[in-house]
Amino acid sequence: MNPLLGRLQSYPFEKLRQLFADTSPNPAYRHINLGIGEPRHPTPDCIRQAICDNLDGLASYPATLGQESFRQAIAAWLMRRYNIPLPDAATQIVPTMGSREALFSLAQAVLDPAEHGIVVCPNPFYQIYEGAALLGGAEPYFVNADPASNFNCDYDSVPDEIWNRTRLLYLCSPANPTGAVLTLEQWKQLFALSDRYGFVIASDECYSEIYFDDNAPLGGLEAAHRLGRDGYPRLVMLSSLSKRSNAPGMRSGFVAGDAAIMKQFLLYRTYHGSAMSQTIQNASIAAWNDETHVIGNRAKYQAKFAAALPLLQPVMDVAMPDASFYFWADVFRKTGLSDTQFAQRLYAEYNVTVLPGSYLARTAHGINPGDNRIRIALVAEQEECLEAIRRITDFTGRL
Ligand SMILES: Cc1ncc(COP(=O)(O)O)c(C=O)c1O
Repeated sequence: MNPLLGRLQSYPFEKLRQLFADTSPNPAYRHINLGIGEPRHPTPDCIRQAICDNLDGLASYPATLGQESFRQAIAAWLMRRYNIPLPDAATQIVPTMGSREALFSLAQAVLDPAEHGIVVCPNPFYQIYEGAALLGGAEPYFVNADPASNFNCDYDSVPDEIWNRTRLLYLCSPANPTGAVLTLEQWKQLFALSDRYGFVIASDECYSEIYFDDNAPLGGLEAAHRLGRDGYPRLVMLSSLSKRSNAPGMRSGFVAGDAAIMKQFLLYRTYHGSAMSQTIQNASIAAWNDETHVIGNRAKYQAKFAAALPLLQPVMDVAMPDASFYFWADVFRKTGLSDTQFAQRLYAEYNVTVLPGSYLARTAHGINPGDNRIRIALVAEQEECLEAIRRITDFTGRL
């Protein structure tokens, strides 16, 4: 067996299952899960209908590169959304089965396993980055998000000897779990580092459409374009319909950016064997071409966050995220409970699940930046979310 498999950590939800293994939730309440980041608003009709209308697509093997019309729909969306020139659908876009497998497979295409390079990751982070680095024969290097500066990672703190060995940098903007969005200034710094040290930037942007005011989060391609970086050298971004269009079960996403990376990524994928069914491709075209459902979806999140924040603020240290559907709250200062204690007791006493922050981060540079924090995913419909928030405030009130 591949010995590197032994280096993979168990997934946060497995750790949660173990934490709750001997806990019986209070039977007076039905379970509400704010732990898992799975969108729960209904999948829009335009997607459901397009799937029904395109069932003939099941009869053929799809191409790894997908249909041209699908890549063109993605290119047109990128142009509209980020105010960039129309990307070249032939060379700058590759469809993927959601962004998760793409985050993983991209690293396998980018990394030279013989080199034992470094993959720089934010901390806390989406666990796939770490697994992708390890199975690609590299070592992850974590840069802690700093709560004192809106959870930005201080990339100036990374030593030269680390950058010299870095082959890939994962970014997540809007970030899971902190919600932080990278600014143009930060992108400028990261592009300068990539130019200097030659590493690839993979920008995970699957939360880009969940935001709370009129300022849509800046994207990586958009930042590159604004800074005059034609052709997006060493930059790729990843997105999907899972969060934007409440369709996590479709497994529809894409990677876009530097054509030289896309070419090698496509070669890797031909063997990796992930090609999207034509039925899903056609439904995805309908989804990327429609903004109405995205606007409605965003309005639901806006209403939930506006109602939940004032209830939570008196009982924990929490602020509006820049974007995403998570609160990333410090519970220790106001309750005296650690993240795992809080999650376990809340589950036992009120049958509400939240995710301990330490499960989403690693101890690096002497601290685990998730310690004493919980991630609250406001994914259920408003009434259910608010019911859970009221139980959380009852719980903290009785501590
Ligand atoms: C930060 C981040 N990236 C990527 C993904 C993968 O999503 P999908 O594969 O559905 O696009 C998730 C899912 O929760 C996520 O939180």
